[in-house]
Amino acid sequence: LFAGPVDFVKGVVAMSGLPPDNRIEVCFAGRSNVGKSSLINALTGRKTLARASNTPGRTQEINYFALGEARYLVDLPGYGYAKAPVAVVAKWQALLKSYLAGRVTLRRAFVLIDARHGVKEVDDEILTLLDRSAVTFQAVLTKTDKISRAELDRVTDQVRGALAKHPAAFPELIVTSSEKGEGIETLRAVIAALE
Ligand code: GTP
Ligand code: MG
Repeated sequence: LFAGPVDFVKGVVAMSGLPPDNRIEVCFAGRSNVGKSSLINALTGRKTLARASNTPGRTQEINYFALGEARYLVDLPGYGYAKAPVAVVAKWQALLKSYLAGRVTLRRAFVLIDARHGVKEVDDEILTLLDRSAVTFQAVLTKTDKISRAELDRVTDQVRGALAKHPAAFPELIVTSSEKGEGIETLRAVIAALE
């Protein structure tokens, strides 16, 4: 699946702009700057497919990428970014929430958690929304190249504890580094196996 073509389809700013729901899709959600766009680039082996940046709030639209013929990868705007204008943040959050709660072809939401920070309150709000919407989600630890083995053990415990409170959580945590390629093959296999 990941050996084939992957193409940018469109950037969506309103629910009415979503592509037809004739493919299954997975999305990448998470706090601003957690590494969503970088993870999509690592998965697809295309360094600049999704725009990654040091500036939080870089991805401001719901970006659709076609993976082969039957799937979409969806890059979401980050949440929890305080510096953007209030009205702009409110608009993204509303779109993000409608998308997560209302997209019928969404098979799994990958919720990215920065390995240096663990699950924060804003993450927990999104997890609760996913529970209510009955969207299965799976936590993905990002940037694990930035922490030690001991820190990884500690954050893994914290994340497992937080997930235990969420019925829609898929129990297995995926540990990744887009920088080093860790966990990328595992995540590809999870996506390829979804029906
Ligand atoms: P928004 O679109 O703003 O919500 O951000 P995002 O979640 O898409 O994050 P993005 O992929 O743009 O990455 C943010 C920053 O983290 C960039 O400077 C990346 O190079 C860096 N980064 C992402 N993944 C990794 C990783 O696995 N390891 C390291 N060391 N840095 C990473
Ligand atoms: Mg992004």
